[in-house]
Amino acid sequence: MTTLNTGISKAVIVAGGRGTRFLPATLAIPKEILPILDRPVLFYALEEAANSGLTDIVLISAPGKAVMENFVTLRVADLERALGDHPSGPEVRRLMDALTVTIVHQEQPLGLGHAILQAADAVGDEPFAVILPDDIVDAPEPVLAQMIRAHSQFPGIHIGVEHVPPETVSAYGIVAIEPAVNEQQSTEQDGIFRVTGMVEKPAPSDAPSDLGIVGRYILPGAIFDAIRRTPPGARNEIQITDAMEILRAEGTPAYALAFDGIRYDAGNPLGHLRAAAAFALSRPDMADAARTILKDALS
Ligand code: G1P
Repeated sequence: MTTLNTGISKAVIVAGGRGTRFLPATLAIPKEILPILDRPVLFYALEEAANSGLTDIVLISAPGKAVMENFVTLRVADLERALGDHPSGPEVRRLMDALTVTIVHQEQPLGLGHAILQAADAVGDEPFAVILPDDIVDAPEPVLAQMIRAHSQFPGIHIGVEHVPPETVSAYGIVAIEPAVNEQQSTEQDGIFRVTGMVEKPAPSDAPSDLGIVGRYILPGAIFDAIRRTPPGARNEIQITDAMEILRAEGTPAYALAFDGIRYDAGNPLGHLRAAAAFALSRPDMADAARTILKDALS
């Protein structure tokens, strides 16, 4: 059994979805390869993993997503040829050098829990991170780095959460947390809460809070066995939230981190637009032109 888990090295990036919210574009191209400005959505997930000190990526892909697989398996020689002395070169090379990628297929779309289960052999018994690349977080310190730190303090399940508008709770996994009491006080100050229950896509009247799960997790190796024991839940799919709840109820401590950062849902066209606008405004090479373009569009 692993003790202090600062040694987390693997991240499962779940990219097996069909991207129905991006049809018709996704007839031709996986949503993970649609660019936000000049970087594919997947690039932000790879960057977060590398900048959090992770080295091994397990990419959950699906049949028909070869374009995405080609992107992560670019060889150094191809990179050199394609990038030349383009300004993005050093950043792209650094990323590709830092990460080893294993691709695993989810043959059928049976849910997020089922997708993560496909990584069982590649991950083994150790705790690992999960990234849902639709959720892009702009943060002073990468969200996974924040979570890995919390995990080294409090071993167990860790989930990234944020307050979501009450009318949208049924789009998320929602957590119930323990109120701050004595020994929990210090953890709550750090934005770390002890989770007392989780429910996937509750009706607003059944939601235990407004804390929605965003696409970042640290999970113990035991999650794979829990997923195998998880019956289909919301949308008749095997849900990771339900599998985590099984482990939690059996005694694995679970924590929610209200992380420092802004989340963008790049899995739908308007969320994508919001991310593109925000990122353009924050990039020194684009900010001035972006401000003019956005002002013009509004007027
Ligand atoms: C998934 C998870 C859900 C989580 C959400 C975050 O749902 O099942 O718990 O809140 O991602 O983006 P999906 O968006 O795939 O329906």
